[in-house]
Amino acid sequence: MAGNKTFTMIKPDAVEANNIGPILAMINKAGFKILAMKYMRLTKEQAGMFYEVHKERPFYGELTEYMSSGPIVAAILTKDNAVTDYRKLIGATDPTKAEDGTIRKLFAKSIAANAVHGSDSDENADIESNFFFSSLERF
Ligand code: RTP
Ligand code: MG
Repeated sequence: MAGNKTFTMIKPDAVEANNIGPILAMINKAGFKILAMKYMRLTKEQAGMFYEVHKERPFYGELTEYMSSGPIVAAILTKDNAVTDYRKLIGATDPTKAEDGTIRKLFAKSIAANAVHGSDSDENADIESNFFFSSLERF
């Protein structure tokens, strides 16, 4: 059965462009509730731990550099079928391939600076949520 939680980050490019508010509004409008949230900046090492699965990929250095280049918003979201529905709301990794009306189509600058992160499985949603939030920080 599909889970009801996913993890997201509003990435440095979207924070810098003052798009925290519009993106959160789209998230709420799509039916997601916020279970946890924080505004913070990752070190390059922490970004590297978060994206460890991509360690061997050619873009890993660029990705961890970028994700630590400025503050991000991290959040746990809940809704039925959260992982799948959130991936639909954010659109394709490459914004030129993202569908109209998706967060990445509207706000992403490039494949690297693509406005938001969304978990790709229920298992990773749990791992990523636990990386950022303690039980005292979830509501
Ligand atoms: P995310 O994990 O951030 O939600 O993105 P995703 O699932 O759509 O894409 P994924 O394959 O997991 O890639 C993670 C992030 O790495 C950056 N990337 N850069 N330069 C490139 O070719 C490239 N490819 C991926 C993007 O920031 C992507 O979101
Ligand atoms: Mg991914």
